[in-house]
This record gives sequence, C-alpha cells and structure tokens, in this order.
Amino acid sequence: MEAAFWHQKWKENRIGFHQADFNRWLQSWWSAQQQGEPVLVPLCGKSRDLLWLSGQGHPVDGFELSELAITQFFDESNLSAETSEVGPYRCHRHDDLRIYQGDFFAVPELGRRYRLAYDRAALIALPTAMRRQYATLMSRLIEAGGQVLLVTLEYQPEQQVQPPFSVGEMEVRTLFERDFSVEVLGRAAELDHPRVLSGQLSYFDEVAYRLIRRG
Ligand SMILES: C[S@@+](CC[C@H](N)C(=O)[O-])C[C@H]1O[C@@H](n2cnc3c(N)ncnc32)[C@H](O)[C@@H]1O
Repeated sequence: MEAAFWHQKWKENRIGFHQADFNRWLQSWWSAQQQGEPVLVPLCGKSRDLLWLSGQGHPVDGFELSELAITQFFDESNLSAETSEVGPYRCHRHDDLRIYQGDFFAVPELGRRYRLAYDRAALIALPTAMRRQYATLMSRLIEAGGQVLLVTLEYQPEQQVQPPFSVGEMEVRTLFERDFSVEVLGRAAELDHPRVLSGQLSYFDEVAYRLIRRG
C-alpha cells in the first residue's frame, strides 16, 4: 500500500486493526528467557504490545509510518517521548522504547540486526509483492538463531484488494522457509467477528508462527 493510504486511515481514525488488549499469542508464547534482548517490531502502529514487550525487560524498536499513530501511542500510554533524527527516521524514544517514524523498508540504513522480532498485522498489511520484499528484508535483519513471532490472519472468501490480507500457511512457508524454520504455534477462530456473524466470511482465524533464522 502507498504511505498515503495509511496516513489517511490514521487521519480518519479507521484503525479497526488496533487492539485494546495485549495479543494472546504474545502473552502465551513469548519466551521471557531473553530479557534485555532488543525486539524489532515492524509496522507497529500504536500497538499496546510494545508496552508488554517493554514490561518484559526488552528494549523495543518499533517502526511506523504515521506520526499520528506514534503521538497517540505515547499520549495514551502517558509516556513522554524525546525525538531525534536517526538515519532516515525521526526516532521517538521513552527510555528503551523507541518508535522510528518512517518507512520500515529503509531500515537497512541503520545497519542493525536483531535476535528477536514480533510481527502482528505487519505481513498481512502488505500486498503480495511487498510481502516478498518484507520476507527478504526480515531474513536480512534477523541473526542466525534469532526468532520471529509472526501473527497472521486467514479468512474466506479471500480478497487481495486492501488490508488485512488473508495470508495462508502455504504462503508463509513459501515466503520464509528458505531462511527460517517455520512452526505453526496455533490458530484461533474469531467466531464473533462482525463479518463472520453477518455471513460475509465463512471464517476469520488468527494464526501464530514461530520462525527461527537458519545459520
Ligand atoms: C494493520 S496496521 C498494524 C499495526 C500494529 N502492528 C498492530 O498490531 O496494531 C499496519 C501499520 O503499519 C503501518 N505501515 C504501513 N506501511 C508501513 C511502512 N512501509 N513502514 C512503516 N509503517 C508502515 C501503518 O501506518 C499501520 O499503522
């Protein structure tokens, strides 16, 4: 999607993807063993999951296009933020929680790599061709042995017009299996999703994966 698409979404507050609660897969599957290890959070929006990760003792690096999303994140969390220019980004920082404002695809310019990453609604926000670029970029950013918790959506009938896109297990494997081992952690059916209740969709599932970067 073009940046303008997302800026418009934030301007009109059409952010149905935003969750008031911490993500269930994050809470049940995140390993607390790597305290202190920085976590990469691509396309982070104003997700409260950033706070959860920070609360587990991780420095957090979120990446988000929308300044509005970032301002709302810090305001709603009652956190003050300092800003500075870092490479191609404006960095908004409170202690070890940073959100880099700008295009995630420019991240190689920072020259960093990570051992941990969390993707909820990032891959599924991108159209097909960008999903391939994203997978290539993640391979580049994650160190050997590093892990990604990936949370996708699957629904029927599929549409590829605008996000959220339905991204099935076969596509996840095609995108990532060259450089990562791919393990399905679980699937949760959203039976009370409005489009399922209205009969528009036959199902709407959230699916979680653990990706481990091969050496
Ligand atoms: C579907 S939302 C998901 C947000 C968040 N992960 C969550 O779980 O609430 C996708 C977010 O990615 C942001 N975004 C889209 N393209 C981006 C890009 N190229 N670089 C950085 N952020 C981007 C959008 O502004 C939007 O906030």
